[in-house]
Amino acid sequence: MRDKGLIFGGLGIFLVAVTFPVWYNVAAGTTNKGPEPKLPAAEKQCVAPTETMRTSHMDMLITWRDQVVRQNRREYKAFNGATYEMRLTGTCLKCHDNKAEFCDRCHNYAGVQPYCWECHVDPAHLQRSGG
Ligand code: HEC
Ligand code: HEC
Ligand code: HEC
Repeated sequence: MRDKGLIFGGLGIFLVAVTFPVWYNVAAGTTNKGPEPKLPAAEKQCVAPTETMRTSHMDMLITWRDQVVRQNRREYKAFNGATYEMRLTGTCLKCHDNKAEFCDRCHNYAGVQPYCWECHVDPAHLQRSGG
């Protein structure tokens, strides 16, 4: 059985490779850590229940955009009777005023890059560039 060493060596390398994500996370101390988006300190309630926002904020934003741009409707009546203007920067980022530590943390974690900011303004970015 000349090949025994070779086989077990190969098996070892294989095991290291398939378990890489596990021990890499352990070594980096990142096991089970989520994106930890930073919530607004001064506010308690979003424009919809938190669970809904978590799963459906993308759809909501597209609906908002369509209603504003195509139907010239600007007011959103929330589940709790409050009303909001349907605006990405003016409404969402008014409460979530730190896009980098809120929206971006989740999106980087999930590997999505919404293209909205090519046109819409991140107020923090404006301040940094002095505009
Ligand atoms: C090519 C430029 C461009 C891109 C990219 C873009 N938008 Fe817009 N968006 C506009 C313009 C122009 C308006 C109209 C502004 C108005 O009428 O007040 C608008 C309006 C909106 C509105 C309603 C008004 C407001 O002030 O927010 C929402 C909500 C919105 N867009 C969401 C999005 C989302 C979400 C994305 C990314 C998925 C996105 N937009 C990407 C140009 C863009
Ligand atoms: C009036 C202030 C306010 C506005 C406006 C607002 N939010 Fe929120 N949002 C909050 C608060 C406060 C929470 C956390 C609620 C909680 O702790 O359960 C939250 C939670 C969320 C969450 C879930 C975060 C998590 O931890 O899973 C998402 C996603 C979100 N908001 C996106 C948006 C988007 C997109 C908009 C615009 C369409 C928006 N929010 C508008 C205050 C606001
Ligand atoms: C709790 C985590 C979380 C937070 C906080 C969050 N998002 Fe998202 N967002 C996601 C995930 C996950 C996706 C991808 C969903 C999918 O692909 O089905 C996404 C997708 C989107 C999309 C669609 C992008 C695309 O290319 O499909 C938009 C627009 C968006 N988010 C806007 C925002 C804005 C604006 C904020 C901050 C006000 C925000 N999100 C905060 C998790 C989050």
